[in-house]
Amino acid sequence: MSNTRPRHWLLLAWLLATTAPLLAAQPLVVSSPNGALRATFELRDGAPHYSLTNNGRELIHASPMGFELADGVSLARGFEIVDHATSEANETWTQPWGQRREVRDHHHELRLRLKQPGPEGLSLSIVFRAFDDGVAFRYEAPLQPAIDEFVITEEKTRFELAGDWSAWWVPALEDNRYEYVYENTPVSELETVHTPLTCKADDNTYVAFHEAALVDFSSMTLQNDGGHTLRAKLVPWSDGVKVRGKGPLRSPWRTIQVASSPAGLADSNLILNLNEPCALDDTSWIRPGKYVGVWWEMHLDTATWGSGERHGATTENTRRYIDFAAENGFDGVLVEGWNKGWDDNWMENGDRFSFTEPYPDFDLEGLARYARERGVTLVGHHETAGGIPNYERQLEDAFALYERLGVKAVKTGYVDFGSNVERRDESGAEQGEWHHGQYMVRHHQRVAEVAAKHHVMVVAHEPIKDTGLRRTWPHLMSREGARGQEYNAWSGEYRNPPSHVTVLPFTRMLSGPMDYTPGVFDIKLTSGNRTGEQIPGTLAKELALYVVIYSPLQMACDLPENYASHPDAFRFIREVAVDWEQSHTLQGVIGDYAVVARKERGGDEWFLGAVTDEQARELQAELSFLEADRAYEAHIYRDADDADWRDNPTAYTVERRRVDAGTTLTLRLAPGGGQAIRFAPLDPQPRTVLNPAD
Ligand code: NOJ
Ligand code: CA
Repeated sequence: MSNTRPRHWLLLAWLLATTAPLLAAQPLVVSSPNGALRATFELRDGAPHYSLTNNGRELIHASPMGFELADGVSLARGFEIVDHATSEANETWTQPWGQRREVRDHHHELRLRLKQPGPEGLSLSIVFRAFDDGVAFRYEAPLQPAIDEFVITEEKTRFELAGDWSAWWVPALEDNRYEYVYENTPVSELETVHTPLTCKADDNTYVAFHEAALVDFSSMTLQNDGGHTLRAKLVPWSDGVKVRGKGPLRSPWRTIQVASSPAGLADSNLILNLNEPCALDDTSWIRPGKYVGVWWEMHLDTATWGSGERHGATTENTRRYIDFAAENGFDGVLVEGWNKGWDDNWMENGDRFSFTEPYPDFDLEGLARYARERGVTLVGHHETAGGIPNYERQLEDAFALYERLGVKAVKTGYVDFGSNVERRDESGAEQGEWHHGQYMVRHHQRVAEVAAKHHVMVVAHEPIKDTGLRRTWPHLMSREGARGQEYNAWSGEYRNPPSHVTVLPFTRMLSGPMDYTPGVFDIKLTSGNRTGEQIPGTLAKELALYVVIYSPLQMACDLPENYASHPDAFRFIREVAVDWEQSHTLQGVIGDYAVVARKERGGDEWFLGAVTDEQARELQAELSFLEADRAYEAHIYRDADDADWRDNPTAYTVERRRVDAGTTLTLRLAPGGGQAIRFAPLDPQPRTVLNPAD
């Protein structure tokens, strides 16, 4: 990772314009390297405002900026421009893992210094960055007496959209965290929503709002402010304060991604580019991989997390999964319910979990050893049920234990609702916090630091949203943060619609990888106790999700016996890569379909995944992404001609065909269906050894 260090600021940043004198002429403009996007800054009666145009067309009308702080202190008005400077960065950095190895960061920056006149006047800097795939800005207030310690009561940032755009959103500040089915309405009809918020301005203009580098701040939701104006609404602490801190103040980046198609948004690197380079000296212990686990059977209600006759996390059951993982090339075995604390109503008893003591029928030490002997590792599990003080008390011991046992990744969980996440205040009294406020942002940072110290990768469920921090902390592998597969097991009322996975690539996935946990083969859930339920898609679509929904740690979530009954289809899960040299979203209409192609890292194979909603579709996929002048064998896993997600979901066909970069494949997707393809070169080259230590 040393080649990703930020030397470019010294080497590549160069001053385009000189530092301007006091009271610089307004307005100030920064444009993207290709000139299409132009962000304009101006003071209106001393209040900072910005606007944004795309190819000369206004996207965001002049909109206010800044913060109000406690005690009547304002970082939103009364300013004069002290000076400004512009610079350019143009560098390529390497990801230790990801959707693509090389990431180009090419942007223009405009840095403004503002000051309120008079001896008591405050200073504030606003930094804009304009990329070809969007613009972003952040606030930085240097250390000064009024913000020695500060309390933000309100963010003033607005987004005055040029039109009543069509938006895909999930509600914020509701019970169920980020886990809602996406709605598609005009912006004027939404209330308060999470980011990323994806909008269609017109057929050729897609805009997404999010934030990058959410560190020691509260997360930004977007609230309708009348008509089609949105305003930043910071998630409050239980006492109503939005953010508390010690100066200097530095906000996350407010990001506005712009692309001419949904696919363009999906392939944007803007969020990662706005994060700090890797903070770890050694990343050799961080590895993408695939895992199975004692998990789905609990969601199918045939096993329990808690102890008793149906306890899932028994030594015997776990050995079965370890054997299955070893025989099929998986890296890890997740075991949930191994630790004491799950009995009775675990969701209500977050203070009872032990993170070090196994149930008596789970031989933790012996299983960790057995897994190692078989060349796999246990994937740890820390469910907190929102009992943060209990978890934080045990954090160090819990991670030290995993390190000693050779556990390389842990899945954390925060099942709790609304603003009920437990915090103890200075007097020891219990307070309830949101999953998305500054309290939990700080908690996740703490977990990240302890996990890094013990060389354990993290997959968080009921997480804080991803804002690209995996660039800085590349052991933050994946997270949930949307409705995943588990919803499909619960009941018809919860089941995700077939369109769900055609929305995710253009909404939730803009923030980062998702632990969706694909791979159910028993589509009708006959092996469960949830009669009448089923997965909202075909078996071929479940395969396609390994390519469409990116995660560096991918689960094969079904029971081993269900894979045993479809060995030909299971071959795709065994062979699909999890770490990528390149990724291209080939096609996509939000809520209708998505087609994604990715090239594996360390080898020459390509993979393609296509998914559709309830509609059958015939899509043409040009294979021009394949290497020219090379022939490939396409291993095609497609819906059978009579497949249908509801009535005939497990009808699939596996076929092979010779293709090259000039081929156009017709992808026939059944209603609720999908297609997965592996492209293996017919003249394979030796594979690159990614980590010689292996
Ligand atoms: C919710 C998680 O999303 C799920 O994967 C897990 O099994 C349960 N919590 C229990 O921790
Ligand atoms: Ca969940």
